[in-house]
Amino acid sequence: KNYNIALIPGDGIGNEVINEGVKVLKAIEKMDDNLSFSFKSFPWGCEYYLETGEMMDEDGIDKLKGFDAIYLGAVGYPGVPDHVSLRDLLIKIRREFDLYVNLRPITLLNEGLTPFKDKRKEDIDFLVIRENSEGEYSGAGEWLYKGEPEEVVLQTGVFSRKGTERIIRYAYEEAHKQGKTLTSVSKGNALNYSMVFWDEVFEEVGKEYPDVKTYSYLVDAASLYFVSDPGRFEIVVTSNLFGDILTDIGAGITGGLGLATGANINPEKNYPSMFEPVHGSAPDIAGQDIANPLAAIWSVSQMMDYFEEKEWGEIILKAIVTILNDKDVLTSDLGGKASTSEVGDHFIKLLEKY
Ligand code: NAI
Ligand code: MG
Repeated sequence: KNYNIALIPGDGIGNEVINEGVKVLKAIEKMDDNLSFSFKSFPWGCEYYLETGEMMDEDGIDKLKGFDAIYLGAVGYPGVPDHVSLRDLLIKIRREFDLYVNLRPITLLNEGLTPFKDKRKEDIDFLVIRENSEGEYSGAGEWLYKGEPEEVVLQTGVFSRKGTERIIRYAYEEAHKQGKTLTSVSKGNALNYSMVFWDEVFEEVGKEYPDVKTYSYLVDAASLYFVSDPGRFEIVVTSNLFGDILTDIGAGITGGLGLATGANINPEKNYPSMFEPVHGSAPDIAGQDIANPLAAIWSVSQMMDYFEEKEWGEIILKAIVTILNDKDVLTSDLGGKASTSEVGDHFIKLLEKY
């Protein structure tokens, strides 16, 4: 089977880590006679913006439509305002393709990576399902009386019945299939419309899944538990903003942003889903060949799962676990001194052993 993959390396270290991910895909293709990948690369991002005034082509969404998946590095760079770069490329793709599920595993792959020396692997192993299409990131709002003393800005969270129900139902479905508990994270005590509604929908949909054991936490308490007692989570469902923040905490307890991945999924498969590391373009280390490519490589594992090539998904993850045992071949964020491309090359050697 052949899969068409659109590459959007983007800015900064985005390019560097996507290169390594593509190496992994090419290695898989070599080892598996039944699998092949075609790539097309799009030069969109901040440099493109500075040349053309646009983050992506005007018909960019049309150009991406026919692909099986999108593999994205990161966007954003000094010189272009972040709200322009993020909204006009990344968030645009998420919304236009209705990639309403963001899957972010919070899994401790190596006990040396967590700041908590008493935590075992089984203490940190859960999945955050983040709403990815609306909520606090709807983009709705207004800037009133700009520059005047009575200046006011409004930023509106949009929680539709359809959007809220489908993400919560997706999460229940996963919890049901995997036999796991489901925790909803919200903030109904302060956000008296959106989060009260969220909590109601969580309860309502739950009636269809009597076998799923549920918990509901306020986001402030959940943030504490992410750090103090992550073992209580199995599957977490939450809103766009809360999921964004909580999963960076999740990265912090499992090895940092160099190891955190996120899949943007349209479960109905009407559009290409998008796979990306959680981290940004890291201007502070860009161009030095020291970015950790393992988050981007983990994204390839998620892509394989999505393609229903689950064996490859597992093999990649196992190889990541193996490489994490060997400091010599890791980048400096994980205590090693290898370059980005050395990690990728070593990784492929490991892969060939499976
Ligand atoms: P960042 O994730 O780029 O960097 C945060 C810190 O983590 C930096 O110290 C960086 O060196 C380190 N880091 C990140 N990825 C790493 C890796 N693979 N290996 C080693 N170290 C790594 O976040 P920051 O600095 O807040 O944002 C930089 C730019 O990226 C901004 O323009 C922002 O808007 C954009 N951004 C884009 C995202 C995306 O495309 N999905 C996500 C987050 C930020
Ligand atoms: Mg983020």
